[in-house]
Amino acid sequence: MKYLPINNEVFTHNRKNFVSRLKPCSIAIFNANDEFPRSGDQSFLFKQNPDFFYLTGIDQEQSILLLFPDCPNPLYKEVLFLRQTNEHIAVWEGHKYTIEEARVASGITNIYWLNDFDVILHSIINYAEHIYINTNENDRYAHTVPYRDIRLLESLRTKYPLHKYERSALVMRDLRVVKSDTEIMLTKKACEITRDAFVRVLKFLKPGVTEYEIEAELTHEFLRQRATGNAYNPIIASGKNAIVLHYVDNNQVCKDGDVVLFDFGAEYANYNADMSRSVPVNGRFTKRQRDVYNAVLRVMRAATKMIVAGTVLTEYQDEVGRIMTGELIGLGLLNKTDVDKQDPKMPLYKKYFMHGTSHHLGLDVHDFASRYKPFEVGNILTCEPGIYIPEEGLGIRIENNILITARGNVDLMADIPVEADHIEEIMN
Ligand code: GLY
Ligand code: MN
Ligand code: MN
Repeated sequence: MKYLPINNEVFTHNRKNFVSRLKPCSIAIFNANDEFPRSGDQSFLFKQNPDFFYLTGIDQEQSILLLFPDCPNPLYKEVLFLRQTNEHIAVWEGHKYTIEEARVASGITNIYWLNDFDVILHSIINYAEHIYINTNENDRYAHTVPYRDIRLLESLRTKYPLHKYERSALVMRDLRVVKSDTEIMLTKKACEITRDAFVRVLKFLKPGVTEYEIEAELTHEFLRQRATGNAYNPIIASGKNAIVLHYVDNNQVCKDGDVVLFDFGAEYANYNADMSRSVPVNGRFTKRQRDVYNAVLRVMRAATKMIVAGTVLTEYQDEVGRIMTGELIGLGLLNKTDVDKQDPKMPLYKKYFMHGTSHHLGLDVHDFASRYKPFEVGNILTCEPGIYIPEEGLGIRIENNILITARGNVDLMADIPVEADHIEEIMN
């Protein structure tokens, strides 16, 4: 791992919260993510399962967490199983956690090698009634390949058909959405690294520079500051490329007179930043570009005010849509008469602003949360309105990350240049 060690208190606290919500006499089992083949004998860089990391702080493949707070044998109330390393693994893959290192990282005392998992589980499972398994219940996830937790569920159901199987995801969804001080600190770190990369890129950008050179600049800044890398494939979309919402080709030349839309963020210690900025390639917005830019910025400022405890996502999106509609009329893109006659189920603003304004942010970029639960203190959300005008070859999105507190909210990206004048000043 490139990031600095994290105090294990946060993981101990997370486990305590999790087990306090289990039914009596329950076992919960969490798996590390699978390793995915890339080609030939290579795997993709390992990415830890966010729930597993949240409960353990262990950033290593083939690990299992077993929680059984009512276990009659005190040795097995909280157990971590790790891949046992050997000389061959040490030579080819490098260092793996020792038992002592894993104790320090996780705060878990009882740690065994993975080979012991089946025997230990079998010795205690008949003293439990419920078995909690961690299925991926993110609304946007469709599983096509059975992952570790699903495979475990299938094998346990065969061996122990009369236990009652339960969903850990329902508990995790409520817990993960409220960020602790440590999580906020790590997200702030990801935002700071992202800020530095943006300022670096602003100084680098000029007509003739390619989108991939910009990607290289920002990734360089991420890595030199201990980020694992990009939180998601960075979008460096100049001119009309900005109309493609998930443009990741990043292979075109940035042309004089165009605006380039950046959407990138650093991943630090598995926590993510998610920032968008739209800047003129030559360092000066045209009048029209500035008008569209300022319209998006006004919508972002108005939307940010609504990101407070109690706000409901669907109502919030409708209200942002109304504000955006006013701006689009002001820009001559929509006509008031047409808007008055629009079908409320298909509001006209969606022609120019076709995505949601906000999503939760955390261990996942689109973090695991209920879309129907009102926002709470401790949530971190993005605020990312945009206007995309294909006929003008122009797309503008501005995106900041907002923490909800008991006294309103805090913009975690407040120190990242966003005013058109400020951006021009840095570029010139
Ligand atoms: N970068 C993905 C998003 O803004 O949601
Ligand atoms: Mn983004
Ligand atoms: Mn986003």
